[in-house]
Amino acid sequence: ENDLNTSFIGRNIYYFNTISSTNIKAKEIALKELEGTVVIAEDQTTGKGRLGRDWVSSKGRGIWMSIILKPEADPIKVAKITLIGAAAVNKALEDIGIKSQIKWPNDVVINGKKICGILTEMNCELNMINYVVMGIGINVNLQEEDFPKNLIDKATSLKIAEKREINRKKLLANILNRFEEFYIPFKNSDDISKAIEICRENSALINKEVSIIKGEEIKTGKALDINEEGKLVVMFENGIVENIFSGEVSVRGV
Ligand code: BTN
Repeated sequence: ENDLNTSFIGRNIYYFNTISSTNIKAKEIALKELEGTVVIAEDQTTGKGRLGRDWVSSKGRGIWMSIILKPEADPIKVAKITLIGAAAVNKALEDIGIKSQIKWPNDVVINGKKICGILTEMNCELNMINYVVMGIGINVNLQEEDFPKNLIDKATSLKIAEKREINRKKLLANILNRFEEFYIPFKNSDDISKAIEICRENSALINKEVSIIKGEEIKTGKALDINEEGKLVVMFENGIVENIFSGEVSVRGV
């Protein structure tokens, strides 16, 4: 609370001990609540990841939250919003002395292992956004035994990576502060240059081989950059360079 210095992000908080999913709850209340309202829970019984996956949300050890946003932007621009969340988490971690990398467009990793995932959902009508719910899950103080065996090689927690207990309240306040800092220019003038710069400077993908998975199709190439629109610039094996829009793909480092 004391560390929070935002004007509207996180000024209205719904706090739950146990809930199905903070994204589900946020979507239920989004229409009647103010922009910047945050739903947060100690424990989620059916935490949701991208592509219909489950999300492990061990009780009291993570930050499981959803932020309600109401930008007056073209729905097509919303894919970029996720980069604001990723940049906010990366910077907030840096503020407490933890180096991380952003795996475009929605993961934050440490040493190649995922510590944060973001699930952005939108509700729109015609060409108007009613609301956006950005769900952010951070593995803060989870221990090895909290992870299912199939995730051990892919995911980790801040505690495991840093070998120390992390103060969740302080980290949460830092994330909300950073989020607002990067969100205001987007809201006011469609400017996400700061978030993109952070995603570029701390990218886990640039100059690496990547697989772009689009439906049934898998294409391998090299990630070159994140452009000013927030798209991933990839050179494929045939030499063709494409700008990849986050809405349509899943990226795997290879
Ligand atoms: C992913 O990496 O697949 C996205 C994971 C998103 C998890 C967070 S935890 C808080 C919010 N509530 C959910 O059910 N999911 C998101």
